[in-house]
Amino acid sequence: MTTRNFPESFVWGSATAAYQIEGAAAEDGRGRSIWDTYSHTPGRTVNGDTGDVAADHYHRWPQDLDHIAELGLGAYRFSISWPRVQPGGSGRFNAAGLDFYSRLVDGLLERGVRPVATMYHWDLPQELEDAGGWPARETALRFEEYASGIVTALGDRVHTWTTLNEPWCSAYLGYASGVHAPGRTEPAAALAAVHHLNLAHGLAGRVVRELAPSAELSVTLNLHVVRGASDSAADADAVRRIDALANRAFLGPMLDGEYPADLLADTAPVTDWSFVRSGDEKLIAVPLDVLGVNYYASTLVRAWDGHSARSDADGHGASAHSPWVGADDVDFLPQPGPHTAMGWNIDPPALTELLLRLRLDYPGQPLMITENGAAFDDVVSADGRIHDDRRIDYLRRHIGAMADARARGADVRGYFVWSLLDNFEWGYGYDRRFGIIRVDYDTQERTWKDSAHWYRHLATTGRLDE
Ligand code: FCB
Repeated sequence: MTTRNFPESFVWGSATAAYQIEGAAAEDGRGRSIWDTYSHTPGRTVNGDTGDVAADHYHRWPQDLDHIAELGLGAYRFSISWPRVQPGGSGRFNAAGLDFYSRLVDGLLERGVRPVATMYHWDLPQELEDAGGWPARETALRFEEYASGIVTALGDRVHTWTTLNEPWCSAYLGYASGVHAPGRTEPAAALAAVHHLNLAHGLAGRVVRELAPSAELSVTLNLHVVRGASDSAADADAVRRIDALANRAFLGPMLDGEYPADLLADTAPVTDWSFVRSGDEKLIAVPLDVLGVNYYASTLVRAWDGHSARSDADGHGASAHSPWVGADDVDFLPQPGPHTAMGWNIDPPALTELLLRLRLDYPGQPLMITENGAAFDDVVSADGRIHDDRRIDYLRRHIGAMADARARGADVRGYFVWSLLDNFEWGYGYDRRFGIIRVDYDTQERTWKDSAHWYRHLATTGRLDE
């Protein structure tokens, strides 16, 4: 066995998102979001599950924060529900909603845990979708107003403000493949959504700088590690195209101040990008204190020859519509196992590769792993415990991969396990469990899985035993 030590300054945390855990969907003046509508639409989620009750965190948050403290974590990444604090998505703010997050933040600070708040983890107020949703520029302006309201209320009690979680999912799964809310399948609209999410990020970033100058600013991206099936020029080009859609559509404007030329050229048959106005890209490139990286699995592609059978195994749910706008000639190949219960491949070295690429492309940019974790079919043993060895193994190997990248110079400052609790896993409902703490949905009882005990040891000692 070898042991690797992390410095005391390294931040260990856990992550959740509002709609996945809170429940209380119709309480204290909360409005409706696109996920309420989507999950209540027959056929959209496994078993017709919704987030109406979820893990009932809205009522049980004090105990949940106690768990975070007992785990010895230094930070907690949660998201603020836009429709809870600003029902309707414009104008009036809801005092009861703001109060909830104010108490949550104070509760974290009392327990010595750093609040890391995500402004947008996918729950767009339904009224804004009805007015056009993310493909409409107005939505980014509404987001700026929402950001002003929450930053005014919570300000620098929040240690780190994260504007968006995985805009890739919001844009492409929400508007192109339709496997996420609002379930639209309009490729051009998805690219407009990409831009307006980026714009929303820039506008909200400016709000944080102005209203909470001592807080840190970040965004969380689900960056893809894309590999080609062969060394052929055609496969290399497939990799380049997917990298542009998946990664550089966001990294470009956010960190380089412009959209990559090849992305605009590749997608020209779909849109002319005339929704990008002069000055937008500069605004989007607000300097980040930390770039959040979510990583679960890697991606394998090949150029499609136009006639052989396709695999389309991109791991984002079965849909007749591809999230990969304008890349119909790219095929996604199944990957060797083992896989998690999501069907995602387990590939820790890809995490090292991703972090080293970021070090190279954006030297000096601090990084955090804002999500990493695994769903498995947990079993409650006769002794009442959950011996989730495969989850522990997944976490150990990925944290090791992160340590490898750090040893080679990647400036990774923290790690957040997804997730603190079992929760509503979007289209998969309650069928997939990512928590290190089990939730019994009948009783709402919380039980530490073995992985929680394992993670506590790591977080409190900084020692990774391999
Ligand atoms: C990420 C999401 C998060 C959770 C994990 C499994 O894409 O940000 O809410 O669903 O995947």
